[in-house]
Amino acid sequence: MSRNLTSLSARKGLSENLFERIGELSEKEGAPSEEGLRQLAEEFLMGPANLYGAASFYDFTRPENKDIKVYACSGSACLLAGTQPALKARLGAFFREEEIGQVCCLGRCHENAAFHYQGRNYSGQDAGKLQDIVDGRHTGGQDQYEARAHGRSLLTRDFPSLDNCRHTLAGILARGPEAALSEAILSGLRGRGGAGFPMAVKMKSCREAPGAEKFVVCNADEGDPGAFSDRYLLEQQPYSVLMGMLLAGYITGAESGVLYIRAEYPEAIVRIGQAIAELEWQGMAGADILGSGFSFRFKAIKARGAYICGEETALLASIEGQRPEVRVRPPYPTQEGLFGKPTLVSNVETLACLYHILRDGGAAFAKIGAKPSAGTKLLSLDSSFARPGVCEVEMGTPLATLVDELGGGFRHPVKALHIGGPLGGLVPVGMIPELTIDFESFARHGFLLGHASVVGIPEGYPMIAYLEHLFEFAAHESCGKCFPCRLGSVRGKELLQKARAGECAISEALFEDLLDTLEKGSLCGLGGGLPLPVRNALQYFQEELKPYFSQTQIAVQ
Ligand SMILES: Cc1cc2nc3c(=O)[nH]c(=O)nc-3n(C[C@H](O)[C@H](O)[C@H](O)COP(=O)(O)O)c2cc1C
Ligand code: SF4
Repeated sequence: MSRNLTSLSARKGLSENLFERIGELSEKEGAPSEEGLRQLAEEFLMGPANLYGAASFYDFTRPENKDIKVYACSGSACLLAGTQPALKARLGAFFREEEIGQVCCLGRCHENAAFHYQGRNYSGQDAGKLQDIVDGRHTGGQDQYEARAHGRSLLTRDFPSLDNCRHTLAGILARGPEAALSEAILSGLRGRGGAGFPMAVKMKSCREAPGAEKFVVCNADEGDPGAFSDRYLLEQQPYSVLMGMLLAGYITGAESGVLYIRAEYPEAIVRIGQAIAELEWQGMAGADILGSGFSFRFKAIKARGAYICGEETALLASIEGQRPEVRVRPPYPTQEGLFGKPTLVSNVETLACLYHILRDGGAAFAKIGAKPSAGTKLLSLDSSFARPGVCEVEMGTPLATLVDELGGGFRHPVKALHIGGPLGGLVPVGMIPELTIDFESFARHGFLLGHASVVGIPEGYPMIAYLEHLFEFAAHESCGKCFPCRLGSVRGKELLQKARAGECAISEALFEDLLDTLEKGSLCGLGGGLPLPVRNALQYFQEELKPYFSQTQIAVQ
């Protein structure tokens, strides 16, 4: 990420945002024209190559995808459900091969057969209505799934009226930002986006960072295939997310809040826009909120399709209109974030929790769950469960309770659960009774709770094919900044492809070397996290994978 480009982008900031302008250029023709990019570059005093570098990165703006009309989901849940070959065959009756692309993922993991057409999502039985969809008679819309809770619920229970929320907000603003920060510290809230970093520590760091202008960024780029709990919050509980952002701004001293929402969630973008307008109309957002002297303005930005933009430094580069490559830390975003200013980047669910903490008190939140993992956690269950959907559990709840009671067991025999996205752990079903849903239990057993998507791997699905899917995903989504991931993900995919095709067994030593290099040498959690599920598979599915590996030693030069 270039500091010069950051400064040039900052001149127009959020009001005439460069990233949005690049996106707008691609709306008409599928990708920005060379002339359009040249003019934009001139306006922003940048080189055309800088803008081309950014535009060519995203699924929805890159020139190669210009002619794609419909995108089929290639996420893990749709893959394992086996719905996509039939979907593609149906799409083939309406679209030419070069008009059908892939996107990962649409967050319709509870019913699969998901596709994206003209800015809308479809899934489940929709593929049978393709004629109506193409003719504009059936335009998709909100899908149906259950959101249920086990124990105390904060995030899935009905949000109180805006009058009630106004009363809560006025009380928090009257007590001052230090009091709010103290409650956040007391709560023990840890980030829900994957890393589990203490939220209050980040807010304190941002609050103490010098600077008149600061930002709160809501990371709504939920890209983990299998996850749709952030989508649930954005669409069904938008006020808890927005209030959490606003209060994070109050604590840190930020007056601007940016929601970076993935383009694969069109309904969420619409719903959040409506909720922002309502808060502004009610005087609960904008200038001098409820006469407190505190001002906070929201801006929702539509992302353009790149998994790595969920990583916080890539996300910030993306908003600035730069090519979203991961940045070396320090400086951390709380010191030098969006447009070089102190920035708090937090996950959707973390921010929604913050609102409930400041309403009910930090101590009440800390009492829920299993210390040191406090509070409740949302999990997304895919269609391998009899009752898929979003579940809220108290931290410390047995995984078996989630699977058997909330999820109603499996629809078909499952051999492993992939929990926490493509970089999360692969939990064999035999380990389910050993685990409780909290950061510590997962880490102790060699897994990762992450953002807590739960995808069932069917008994009959070859593990070697699933590993190939993971490497393929990483190869496609790698930002290319560091060699271990950029090259290693591709080489790993090739090794697995050849082994699966029976062309060449994989040297165990070579594979171990690859995993070790990815783990130790990658700059971010994409390359660094990929080895975890692979190692889990090698450990727990050794017998199944044995035929694909050889014990040949690698020659040391
Ligand atoms: C490859 C990669 C992808 C990520 N994707 C997301 C994401 O989609 N959503 C998210 O909130 N955090 C994601 N993160 C984590 C963010 O970098 C960051 O830690 C998080 O947004 C901080 O919010 P939290 O403290 O509330 O968890 C990702 C990290 C990596 C390495
Ligand atoms: S690990 Fe991969 S995604 Fe992360 S910085 Fe390196 S190349 Fe980019």
